Amino acid sequence: MAEPQRIRHGSSLGQPITRRDGVLKVTGQARYAADNHPPGLLHAVLATSRIARGRVASLDVAAARAHPGVVAVMTPENRPPLAMDPDDKSVPFSFKLDLLQNDRVRYPGQPIAVVIAETLEAATEGAALLAPRYEAEPASVSLDDAEPFVPPMIGVGDPAEAHHGDVDAGLAAAAQRIDATYETPTQFHNAMEPHGVVASWDGDRLSLDMPTQGLAMTQMRLAALFGIPAEGIHIRSPFIGGGFGSKLLSGPQALGILAARLVGRPVKLVLTRAQMYGPVSHRAPTRQRLRLGTAEDGALTALDHHVRAATSRFDDFIEPSASISHTLYAAPAIATRTEAVRLDAGTPGFMRAPGEASGSIALESAIDEMAAACGMDPLAFRLRNYAEVEPVSGKPFSSKALRECYAEGAARFGWDGRPLAPRQMRDEQGLLVGWGMGTATFPAMMFHGEARAVIRRDGTGLVETGAHDMGQGAWTALAQIAADSLGLNLAQLEFRSGSSDLPNAGLAGGSTHTATAGGAVHAAGTQAIARLTEVAVADPRSPLFGAGNVGVVARDGRLVRWDDESRSESFADILGRAGLPEIEARGSAAGDAAAMEHYAMHAHGAVFAEVKVDPELGQIRATRLVGAFAAGRIINPRLVRSQYYGGMIWGVSFALHEGAVLDPRTGRVMNADLAEYHVPVNADVPSVEAILVEEEDPHVNALGIKGVGEIGITGTAGAVANAVWHATGVRVRRFPIAIEQLI
Ligand code: MOS
Repeated sequence: MAEPQRIRHGSSLGQPITRRDGVLKVTGQARYAADNHPPGLLHAVLATSRIARGRVASLDVAAARAHPGVVAVMTPENRPPLAMDPDDKSVPFSFKLDLLQNDRVRYPGQPIAVVIAETLEAATEGAALLAPRYEAEPASVSLDDAEPFVPPMIGVGDPAEAHHGDVDAGLAAAAQRIDATYETPTQFHNAMEPHGVVASWDGDRLSLDMPTQGLAMTQMRLAALFGIPAEGIHIRSPFIGGGFGSKLLSGPQALGILAARLVGRPVKLVLTRAQMYGPVSHRAPTRQRLRLGTAEDGALTALDHHVRAATSRFDDFIEPSASISHTLYAAPAIATRTEAVRLDAGTPGFMRAPGEASGSIALESAIDEMAAACGMDPLAFRLRNYAEVEPVSGKPFSSKALRECYAEGAARFGWDGRPLAPRQMRDEQGLLVGWGMGTATFPAMMFHGEARAVIRRDGTGLVETGAHDMGQGAWTALAQIAADSLGLNLAQLEFRSGSSDLPNAGLAGGSTHTATAGGAVHAAGTQAIARLTEVAVADPRSPLFGAGNVGVVARDGRLVRWDDESRSESFADILGRAGLPEIEARGSAAGDAAAMEHYAMHAHGAVFAEVKVDPELGQIRATRLVGAFAAGRIINPRLVRSQYYGGMIWGVSFALHEGAVLDPRTGRVMNADLAEYHVPVNADVPSVEAILVEEEDPHVNALGIKGVGEIGITGTAGAVANAVWHATGVRVRRFPIAIEQLI
């Protein structure tokens, strides 16, 4: 198992460096995918289905074609052939795509045609002229509309059921019991940058500007779809305006590529805001029943978490909402079970903390309800049921500074003064004030990643890996790791990422990217230093001669002897004397299977929330959030704090704002725009604080990094919901909590 890496004095690791791309972004110089306009570019616009299920009976292709500027209309009739069925999912992590393979409609918002024109306006008008007619069939829209089934697996491969101990016996023996059902809505992806692509073909070579969270994965899927070599596909994705799990290859992007094939010219296709509510995945709606039992002293005797989650009629992604109950609280008996329902909706998929986000608002609400039933403070109740080992697996945690998170968060928030009963606090304007808390957790995972490092004759360095910066700061944090591993400062380092011709950095998903790509970068950098050291210590003219390979350290562009700091030599001098233009090394990183076998690996946190509720109008405002998180080694506290802020604000959104409203007759999303699909704006979240709790993890990976992208949403949604109860005495179990549920 890996030893933690020592941070060198003067290293940029752990420094709150601002984003290296920040100036480019705020001055408009950052070129996002859709900002690329190759010569001869045409514009493509999707026509999408207005029904949930049935077939397209007719399209007025002639009317669209006749519109000035329209170059082509792509329908199932003339769509270029593919080498692979779009419903074939043999490429890992892939979903079925709707690429005009037939006239079937399987969800509202599904692409049914593409209009390609000289201008965006002409393409938009052409798409409107298609005037589709449908043969609609009755659609299943809600969790009660179809027969539930137990799927063979949930999430990305977990079993649908898990047991530990005897839940029925635990419930029967309990002094207190609760049995509560919570509902979470469909949530849609609203990243700042909608999905899009600029595609150019040159024979069988394909050049793409496209935001993606998985360069190599997307390349692999496209190669299979089009029957061309992966090396012939070049994807550039230097700036990504948010991904949150939605930006692996989506159907509309592949349609843009097909459109370019059809017309033999470069094509740009970008989704409208409304088109984001259909073909690019979403968070599935869930209904979760939680049954908890406790003994007289507040110790849990049983925890039963039963999930019903929606998936699509034609594909499988089952939101793993109950997984969180395997980890968070000690109970002698825990059972989880997930069933799915097939709806006439697009296939749900990954959305920030898939499973944990929806699962934790239910679990944390139930824990709060149980604490109240026991007459206990919610923090004391959680400490009473603190999991010293992971309850279902029985494994020790690789590290777990959750107690410290509880203590530091509670102190900062001022939790001590909280009255036990609800509806006890008012502010000076007479608004009801409530305080709630939630526990945050997310697994610390890794994928496989690769990187390349070069030390050049002039003493500078180059590190490259096909990493993805969705706005989280990967370009900056990974460059910090690269500079540290090479013993250079950031100004002496060229760092390249965001392109598919660089080494495969794995996916930017599952809060794995810094550990994975960073681990690879670190391995490549230290390997390059080891090679340089071999050259120096073998050369009698070097002051390092005879020091041995582990007897030197890289610092400030020099190799320095451990035992005698006065003996050192610059990279440039070593390479110059050896007559070498550069030294190159490759490195890779992946999860440590032995460590994963022995340890449960998770980041943890505690979130405390204050809300104010108008007693007459029921209007709710989250007024204060304090989160304390422990996630192993922190590479850049400024960027990490930003990740926590973003996650926590999304938690507020989950509890109070966000949710699709579906027309029960047609299944159509009735609020498919940012005017009516609510997300919190600045005025909705006045004060957010994130505390970085120190945690050293010697087991999780070489750098001790747990990942921070997703955990922030997990404790927060429940904390806000619990604060609403504490303010009002009303327990709302259907999210988002709305005014009408309070009055
Ligand atoms: Mo995330 S939902 O793994 O981008």
